[in-house]
Amino acid sequence: SKKAFIFDLDGVIVDTAKYHFLAWQKIAQALNINFTHEHNELLKGVSRVRSLDIILELGNVQASQEDKDKWLLQKNEDYLSYLVDMNESEILPGISKILKFLKEKNQGIALGSASKNARPILEKTGIISYFDVIVDGNDVTNAKPDPEVFLKAAQLLHIDPKNAIVFEDSVAGIQAANIAGMVSIGIGEEGILHEANYIFKDSTFIEESFIETLITN
Ligand code: G6P
Ligand code: MG
Repeated sequence: SKKAFIFDLDGVIVDTAKYHFLAWQKIAQALNINFTHEHNELLKGVSRVRSLDIILELGNVQASQEDKDKWLLQKNEDYLSYLVDMNESEILPGISKILKFLKEKNQGIALGSASKNARPILEKTGIISYFDVIVDGNDVTNAKPDPEVFLKAAQLLHIDPKNAIVFEDSVAGIQAANIAGMVSIGIGEEGILHEANYIFKDSTFIEESFIETLITN
C-alpha cells in the first residue's frame, strides 16, 4: 500500500547540523555562554527562535527583543555562509538511494523540517524533485516535539498518520513522530534516540528489505 515517508532535513538528508552548531557556538561565545555538543542536542529539530532562547537560558542571560532579533539574524547569516557552495556532495550517505527506491515503489515522500532554509537547500543539493510535499519552518506554528509539521505532511499526502514513517536525528523530532502515531526511525546514536521505534547509526544501514516491510505492513 502507499505510505508516507517523511524526512527531517538537517542531520538526516543533509549534513548541516554541524553548521547550525558552529553558527550557534559563535553567538554563545560572544555572550560568554558555555555551549557544548551535548547542549546542542537540545537544539536539534528546534526552531531558530526557540534555539536562541534555550542558549540564553543556559547562560542565564536576559536580553531585549532588539538584541535577540540581531543575534537571530547574525546566526542565520553565518549559517548561510556555510551553504553558499553547497551541492549534492552534502547529501548524507544512503539518502539518495532510499529516495530513489521509494520513488520506484510509488511511495509518498515528504519533507518535515523546522528550517526556514529548507527549499534552497533541497534545490542546491539537486533532490527537491523527489519530494511530493514540503512542510518547513515557514508552514508551521508549533515546533517539534509538537507533531504539527509531520501531521501536516501526511495530510497533504492524503495518508493516515498511522501509515506514515518519519526519519529523524533529533529527540524532539522522534517525540513528535511518536505523538503523531507514526513510525519513528532515529538516525544517530542509540543512547540519544532511544525513544525511536527503530534506530540506525546512519542511513547506509537502512536496507531495502527493511523499507519493503515498512511499505507492506
Ligand atoms: C532544524 C535544525 C535546527 C534549526 C531549525 C531551524 O530543525 O535541526 O538546528 O535551528 O531547523 O532552522 P533554520 O534554518 O530556519 O534556522
Ligand atoms: Mg534534524
